Amino acid sequence: MDLVVRLAPAKVNLTLAVLGMRPDGYHDLHSIMVPLDLADRLSVSPLPPRAVDTLHSDGFDPGRASDNLVLRAFAAARRRAVGPWRAAGRGGEPPALAARLEKRIPVAAGLAGGSSDAAAALDAALAAWGVELDHQVRHEIAAELGSDVPFFLAGGPALAEGRGERLTPIPWLRDDDERHDRPGVLLVTPAVPLSTPAVFRAWDAGARNPAAGARHASAHLADELRRGMASDALTVRAAILASANDLAPAAIAVEPALVPFKRALMRLTGRSIGISGSGPTHWALYASYPEAVAAAEELTSAVIDGRLTAPGQYPPFIAAARILAPVPRRDS
Ligand code: C5P
Repeated sequence: MDLVVRLAPAKVNLTLAVLGMRPDGYHDLHSIMVPLDLADRLSVSPLPPRAVDTLHSDGFDPGRASDNLVLRAFAAARRRAVGPWRAAGRGGEPPALAARLEKRIPVAAGLAGGSSDAAAALDAALAAWGVELDHQVRHEIAAELGSDVPFFLAGGPALAEGRGERLTPIPWLRDDDERHDRPGVLLVTPAVPLSTPAVFRAWDAGARNPAAGARHASAHLADELRRGMASDALTVRAAILASANDLAPAAIAVEPALVPFKRALMRLTGRSIGISGSGPTHWALYASYPEAVAAAEELTSAVIDGRLTAPGQYPPFIAAARILAPVPRRDS
């Protein structure tokens, strides 16, 4: 059995409407989510008999290894894999795994890095053991691990509903003109990790958008994408999308320093600035990836020469990313 390597992409919520609290304590959502080429890298290899699962990580600090979703994903995958493993005449249970995680996605940032690691770990574990589980079972394991985990099994832009686990793949931008670039995304994450439960609690306590703007914007974007949206139309919608996150007021209630920070980003980029998930990652859309790269370079200089100050003990994480999406069919 060989080394298995998986990339675990980050995601951005282009819209995020919170529809209400549920009896189970979760919240019903309506959100358009897109995966990015900013990714953690997970490598997994089987260990000898009687070993236990291990995790070593470098890059951003993911916190205590024992709490990590990668190890929980291995355990959950093993529980379901043991049946097919024994049915194939192999005794005992699937062996322990050694995992190495290169964390390139900031942690507790609204980019779902930990959830993506869990989806990658599930897939890598099954590949390392040579066990197939059908899609429904994989989805169930993913949903048990976390609301955002199933999104990463699908591998493309999707409408997420329910607590985030009900997914409808959504056609991505069509591009009638080959000369058009695909949009690029600027990401800026101040070093003030936000706890998702704390942000939802702030929403419960009343830190909300007064109007139902996010809900309408999210439904409208879903409709437009389903009908086939041209590549350049997304950046035209950027201002509406940037204000279509119902968790933004709650993120600000938890971390008020995000208000002047967002204002500074708007001033320096001249763009509409959105927040991803429960924050604190801010995003802006650009007509092309090279434009997003130029904006990231400009903001990095602004941090160095003091034009941009960010909350937190460290400088903000600043990056340009591409949206990962299947190449669209070209209608002739
Ligand atoms: O599902 P996951 O464990 O990632 O969610 C973390 C926390 O975020 C939940 O315990 C809950 O407090 C909150 N949450 C929520 N509604 C959702 C997703 C998450 O309230 N749809």
